[in-house]
Amino acid sequence: MNDNTSKVANPGATAPSQVLDRVLVLEMVRVTEAAAIAASKLIGRGDEKAADAAAVEAMREAFDELYMDGTVVIGEGERDEAPMLYIGEKVGGAPGKGPKIDIALDPLEGTTITAKAGPNALAVLAAAEEGCLLNAPDTYMDKIAVGPGYPEGVISLEKSVTENVEAVAKAKGVEPAEIIVCVLDRPRHADIISELRAIGCGVYLIPDGDVAGVIATTDEDTTIDMYIGQGGAPEGVLAAAALRCVGGQFNGRLVFRNDDERARAAKWGIEDLDRIYKLEDLASGDCIFAATGVTDGSLLAGVKRLRSGVMTTESVVMRASSGTVRWIKGEHR
Ligand code: FBP
Repeated sequence: MNDNTSKVANPGATAPSQVLDRVLVLEMVRVTEAAAIAASKLIGRGDEKAADAAAVEAMREAFDELYMDGTVVIGEGERDEAPMLYIGEKVGGAPGKGPKIDIALDPLEGTTITAKAGPNALAVLAAAEEGCLLNAPDTYMDKIAVGPGYPEGVISLEKSVTENVEAVAKAKGVEPAEIIVCVLDRPRHADIISELRAIGCGVYLIPDGDVAGVIATTDEDTTIDMYIGQGGAPEGVLAAAALRCVGGQFNGRLVFRNDDERARAAKWGIEDLDRIYKLEDLASGDCIFAATGVTDGSLLAGVKRLRSGVMTTESVVMRASSGTVRWIKGEHR
């Protein structure tokens, strides 16, 4: 790694945990780097499954280098449906000895993006002390998010799209029509998109990858003010962990399409099916978020293979207790 710049983004953060030691925070980037490099070999190859499998295998191996007693709480699925990085799987090189850490991961967030060489595919993970990350079932989640600097409660899933846009516009001191909202491009979002267009908002449609979509609200350079829409619940926890580190607000509500999904929620101990989760409900205490770009995106550049054979990566690692955000460029030979 040849460049390691950092800035403190969230000075009012929580107490540091003894468990997530500083070395481990930086080490997490090796794990997302490994997954991103492995997936990058499949960019544009039209094979989502192969890209995902490569990322999963590389991430699984990289975890073993870390001195921790980790447990996957959000992963590739349940044990019977995922060979590796399944929910409940132990990861890390020090089982029974190292710090007990819960991990939420998505070795390849954006499998379709990678297969089609689109923007914003990432290898991501969040880590926290045992019990601090919501064991979200693999269902959809209604999500709304804004970046830092707004009064608490400016957004709410209990308000309409229009009310939320008006509240954010008022707090920002602009007209509602000036608000830019990121939405996943899906038929199920037709009503949200027409409501936003009726106000005159800019609607930034993304093909996939709502972790990057939510995080984009925290970066003024993207010009995106809000994220609205329904995406994966596991991705909601990952995005919430990132927002815990850099500031911002998030509301999430699980969406159940059938009894099987409701049963999954019950299995993970979720009783109130209509509950609205805020950041601290999804990722509490001290937590870490790490991501490496697979393809170029608004957050990070993707993996590049130079003619010399060197591969370059761009990653970010954040910690809630310090609010430190480190952007790390890697050169791999
Ligand atoms: P994958 O990496 O699993 O393909 O997820 C990509 C993604 O776009 C997520 O970012 C998002 O939360 C989810 O899929 C949306 O689900 P759907 O594609 O079913 O609308």
